[in-house]
Amino acid sequence: MTTMDPSVGTDRARALFDEELAGVTSAAALQDLRNRWMARSGSWVAAFMELVASAPPDQKRALGRGANTLKKHVEAALAEREAALAATRRPAGAVDITLPGRAPRLGCRHPLSLIREEIGAIFSRLGYQVLEGPEIEDDYHNFEALNMPADHPARDMQDTLYLETPLTPAAGDPPTRGLAPRAPQPLTLLRTHTSAMQIRQMERHDPPVRLVAIGPVYRRDSLDLTHTPMFHQVEGLVVGRGVTLADLKGTLLSMATALFGPGQDVRFRPSFFPYTEPSAEVDIRCIRCNGGGCPMCKRTGWLEILGSGMVHPAVFEYVGYDPDEVTGFAFGMGIERVALLKWGVEDIRLFYENDLRFLEQFGR
Ligand code: DAH
Repeated sequence: MTTMDPSVGTDRARALFDEELAGVTSAAALQDLRNRWMARSGSWVAAFMELVASAPPDQKRALGRGANTLKKHVEAALAEREAALAATRRPAGAVDITLPGRAPRLGCRHPLSLIREEIGAIFSRLGYQVLEGPEIEDDYHNFEALNMPADHPARDMQDTLYLETPLTPAAGDPPTRGLAPRAPQPLTLLRTHTSAMQIRQMERHDPPVRLVAIGPVYRRDSLDLTHTPMFHQVEGLVVGRGVTLADLKGTLLSMATALFGPGQDVRFRPSFFPYTEPSAEVDIRCIRCNGGGCPMCKRTGWLEILGSGMVHPAVFEYVGYDPDEVTGFAFGMGIERVALLKWGVEDIRLFYENDLRFLEQFGR
């Protein structure tokens, strides 16, 4: 910045002004420059004007011309720079398009949806129909036609969630076959298993049948590490001529391989379900230790994964299939159980707590 000194003359002053102007890059600096050169008092131009006023008459004219030229030059140069600065200034409220954007937060698939879709895809590839079915059921489909007569312990209030007010089913097409009561039954309960869909499908379709039914089921369980009152099952049913236990085992092995990777093995343990005979609980080789024994499989080398068996002839009677003509296998598996095993999650409640830090880990 120059010290004001009009004795240097207007030519030198103009050169000084040009130098200063060249260094101006902001509106504030420009205003400062304007003040120091153009202010009514105390500025360079004001000082030259005073000099003119106090000059002897014979010098006034020449001095006045010099001072005016300087003043015009300063005015014009300031105006020009002001316009140039204004042209580069962002208008108020303008968006700076060079700033990095705010990434919108994308949702992700819920881990249970991922497993559900994966299982659906596995069985679609094998030629199965993939169904869902109603979550509110009648006693007939959830129990009776699955060979669980009226006094069967599975109907116990301890296990089943009953509706306070039963619902009247929508008047749809009645089942085309089987022993289903011709007047549809009131819907009294939340289905305790997807096995009810076996009956619904068979009473409407002739064999052969090949289905998986995937969806929520409900039980009177309190929340703990491995139980929730609502969880998801996948039900499988294959009925046709000459369907055998070997078909069941082969199917379950290919499902286990698709879900948990190659090198899988399955084993059958005798069990009991009213709607299958024989019945088996199925274990897969422990996916963590590969059979060697670890805490996850309680050192047995095996993990229990589902219940299954050959469809009980009594069930075929209920749906109007001839047990001398067809055989079938069925299985039921918990989706949460698969998710817990596959990802080594230790608390089933995590799937329902909606903590994004947990849910985001499983893929898009
Ligand atoms: N419904 C059984 C349950 O909820 C699972 C099950 C077992 C389904 C054997 C089946 C089966 O189809 O054959 O625990």
